[in-house]
Parts: sequence; structure tokens; C-alpha cells
Amino acid sequence: MSNTQQFRTNMGARHTYLSHFGIRTKRLEPMIDWYTTVFRAKIMHRNESLAFLTFDDEHHRFVIFEDEMTVTKPDSAAGIDHVGFGLLSIGDLVATYERLKDEGIMPFMPMNHRFTTSLYYYDPDGNEVELSVDNFPTKEECAAFVKSRAMTEIGKAPFGYPFNADDLVELYHQGATAKELSRIGIPTDRN
Ligand SMILES: [Fe+2]
Repeated sequence: MSNTQQFRTNMGARHTYLSHFGIRTKRLEPMIDWYTTVFRAKIMHRNESLAFLTFDDEHHRFVIFEDEMTVTKPDSAAGIDHVGFGLLSIGDLVATYERLKDEGIMPFMPMNHRFTTSLYYYDPDGNEVELSVDNFPTKEECAAFVKSRAMTEIGKAPFGYPFNADDLVELYHQGATAKELSRIGIPTDRN
């Protein structure tokens, strides 16, 4: 299955999928650096005012463009709050955290949402990017959790349990199982 197929949606139309994000900025260079670093993205096209980036077989996953009319959004502005990208294993999430830490890119909020373990990052403009891994082996089990009464316990901000990302890394390298790691940050009296 290609990455494109994984993003396919089901709106009654065939071949509908999430193709890309367009990001307006006044800081083109640092934004390009950040997205190419975090996503190990390739620059597909670049001129003095924009860049098309991709990280897979899609022609572009991000278009970042500079516009001198751009203004800073207030923190609580309406609109998209964050964009989440799923990694396929806790090992991938740990390795990505370590790689980005070496680059000086740190999450501002590691959060165990019960059905995902998530690291939230700010890009240079303050847009939130979530990197997450499912905490259940299958999508069906994750979906069952989301529909369950257990969701009521995480139904208020911050929608989960904060944890220390370095603790996750340490436990991972000590050989903790994916199931054990999926409990990080969750109080032991919670099942
Ligand atoms: Fe999210």
C-alpha cells in the first residue's frame, strides 16, 4: 500500500485523499529548514518566495510560501489547531524524537492520549505539528477505544496524560514492550 493510499478518504468519490498543506509565512528559510529536517522532506521546487516539499511519492506534501502581507495569528485564533502525523511504531517515534533532539528540535508537549502516544512540536511560526503512534496494535482496537466510555476520562484539555519524553526513550532502550510503553504517563490506578 502506498502512502497515498493510506491517506485515502471515503467521501463517496474515488481517489480522494489528503494531499498537502499550504503554509503561509514571513520566515521562509527557517520554515523550509524545519519541515525538511522534521519530515526528512525533499525540496521539489523552490523559488525566492516559496517551496514545494514532499516526503513520499506525492509531488508535494507541503507548499510553504512567503507573503509580506502575512500577520501573526493570535494564540487562540479559530481554525486548524494542529496537524497530526502518525508513525508506524513506538520505535519510529523514539528514533524521530532522538534525531530531532540532536537537531535542537524539542517537543513542547509529550502526551499520552491513551489510544496514541503523541509528541507536539512548534514549527518556527508556532504552528503545532503532532507526531504520534497508536497505542493499540490495530486501528480497530484504537477505534473501539475512541468510542468507549474510557474516552470520557480524557475528554478535557490536555486530553490525556503528560509524560517525560526522555523517560520514554530510556524505557524503550531498556527493552520495555510496546504495551508497557503505551502506559507511559498513565497513573498506575488506571486500567
Ligand atoms: Fe491530535
